Amino acid sequence: MKFRNGLILLSAVLSCLSCRAREPDVTVEKRIDDLLAQMTVQEKIGQLRQPVLREKTRAEIEESIKAGQVGSFCVVKDPLCDPTQRNRLQKMAIEESRLGIPILFGYDVIHGFKTIFPVSLGLSASWDLEMAEQAARVAAKEARGYGMDMAFSPMVDVSRDPRWGRISECYGEDVLLNAAFGAATVRGYAGDDLADPDTLGACVKHYVGYGLSMGGRDKQFTEVSRQTLLNTYLPPFEACVKAGAVSLMTAFNDQSGVPSTANPYTLTEVLRKQWGFDGFVLSDWDAVVELINHGVAGTESEAAELALEAGTDVEMKSTTYVHLADSIAAGRVSTEVLDEAVRRVLRMKFRLGLFDHPYVNEARGRAVQLLPEHRALARKAAAESMVLLKNNGVLPFPEHTKRVALQGPFAHSRDLYGWWTGHADTSDAVTVYDGLMQAKPDSMQLECGSQTRFYSPVTLICAGESGQCFGESHNLTDITLAQSQVELVKEAKAAGSKVVVVVFGGRPQVLSPIMELADAVLLAWHPGTETGHALADVLFGRVNPCAKLTVSFPKSTGQIPLFYCDRRSGRPREDRYLDLDSNPLFPFGFGLSYTEYTYDNLRLSSPTLTAEGSLTVSVDVTNTGTRDGKEIVQLYIHDKVARITRPQKQLKGFQKVMLKKGEKRTVSFTLNPDDLAFYDADCQRVVEPGVFDLWVGASSQDETLATTFRYE
Ligand code: GLC
Repeated sequence: MKFRNGLILLSAVLSCLSCRAREPDVTVEKRIDDLLAQMTVQEKIGQLRQPVLREKTRAEIEESIKAGQVGSFCVVKDPLCDPTQRNRLQKMAIEESRLGIPILFGYDVIHGFKTIFPVSLGLSASWDLEMAEQAARVAAKEARGYGMDMAFSPMVDVSRDPRWGRISECYGEDVLLNAAFGAATVRGYAGDDLADPDTLGACVKHYVGYGLSMGGRDKQFTEVSRQTLLNTYLPPFEACVKAGAVSLMTAFNDQSGVPSTANPYTLTEVLRKQWGFDGFVLSDWDAVVELINHGVAGTESEAAELALEAGTDVEMKSTTYVHLADSIAAGRVSTEVLDEAVRRVLRMKFRLGLFDHPYVNEARGRAVQLLPEHRALARKAAAESMVLLKNNGVLPFPEHTKRVALQGPFAHSRDLYGWWTGHADTSDAVTVYDGLMQAKPDSMQLECGSQTRFYSPVTLICAGESGQCFGESHNLTDITLAQSQVELVKEAKAAGSKVVVVVFGGRPQVLSPIMELADAVLLAWHPGTETGHALADVLFGRVNPCAKLTVSFPKSTGQIPLFYCDRRSGRPREDRYLDLDSNPLFPFGFGLSYTEYTYDNLRLSSPTLTAEGSLTVSVDVTNTGTRDGKEIVQLYIHDKVARITRPQKQLKGFQKVMLKKGEKRTVSFTLNPDDLAFYDADCQRVVEPGVFDLWVGASSQDETLATTFRYE
């Protein structure tokens, strides 16, 4: 028993250490002290300014660097994003500014830099944290090689409104998955030491609650209680801070009236005092000056003071922080507040190695882009993100398939990277047509119906939405598949074809109009550079689809918001509409395979979980089909009685297991008291005694294997 207690005590100490993020590096702090002692107020403010590189003329860029007025650059799809240019600007900062403080370069590396991976919502459907971490390693190697020091990602805004175009950038509707994928990405970027050339600092965004933007309209107000922030929207950011984020980016929205960029509760009370974050907070694009639009600041000076005092250290694009010199002189802002913000920036520059290794190896930086092993990983990630939603046996294409007609707007498209395209060229992408032509058996004829719309025994329709239909400020009032594409499916069906529909997009789409008609539906997302190869791998059966949805697919736009973990109500069965039920077309956690799995023999190590203990949950999973495959086993709980209403179901564990055909495997999970914790209406973190429902299954709606346990 003693050993067991020791282990639990050790884990408690470790978790406390990790929540302090890290112990200060005395040498670095001393070097910062020395720099601060030499810096003028203007030079300190300079470190808090992040202009957008492409918005400035060459003369403005060089003048501001030499004057020590650039702490970092926001580099957005910019030809100056190039190792040689970056070294030239860095050399100017180090050799021609008074104190030679290096510049930090930030870039929107969202799901890849030169090698593009599936959009984040798609990658999350792989439920593969290790692969997500590897993808981040690739992005870090390519981006840092080009001289970018920090990625404006991961985006971990839990989102439950697919009308919102930016749902494509997050990891779905679930708290645990956003936290897990966000932390995996931060770890992948950071490697073992942020000063290494193949690593990247993570600027986690958008802090916080951006996914709640009213009506799915981007950048709108939100209504959210503090306990809901603490239970749902903050945990992914806490996980990323613990994983080693260097920065957080504030969100455009408010939290119930207090704009993210000027919210002392989230930026100081939670982030600094509770989590111990020692990096810096960056505003989003113009978010500081937009405090005037929010109506909480009357002037640029007021906006700057509100933001800095709340805890926003660096201002992206807008220039209100130039007024801080007057604020300091007038005594409205203290030198201590200014120095602390500068210290956080300098600390991250030291941690990123910018003072000791300010230049990138230009030849190496160019050589590591789009390497074969990077493409190979992108191909695997794309294939393992594709969700099989329906299959009546038409897939995978049999070897003897003679003719397939290829139809639809994505058949030859290079619009495959989503809204954020990194620093990639669409010419690098493998199109659907290219991939199928390279993979198909010689005996198979691939017909590209042009005007004749010639249909074969099998018609493959590549449908969905462009990368310009989702992303920032790209919201929709109706997410139903385009009628013209529905007509394609109808025509092919009427011509006697078996119809396979591949759906491209970055958000859930209403697919109801084609579900009866199609013989198979495969959700491909925007798969990235290796689209054609990955799709061919799945269609020809080289990869057995294993992905599962991390966001609910509604039957109608009118059902939104619709998600698996909604809180209980007083009349749960009266939640219908007059014209439709309130169930999703496809639930969270759903995805088919070319094989089948059975789950049985759910058992617990004990009927009771105690404050000092843990509970082992086991289930036997069998691959009863004819193909090897990977199954994503999911564990959910429900708190039956608590002091506030709790979600009907919460994901508390998942495992992706490889099972050969016929293989049976026991899959086990460990539940700890911390897994039951939540914040109550007083924002107190509590774990309450009581009975919990527990399910283990293939999706959030699979309740075949159910049991209960007691916490006491
Ligand atoms: C944008 C986005 C943010 C991005 C930043 C820099 O407005 O909200 O996600 O990182 O500006 O491009």
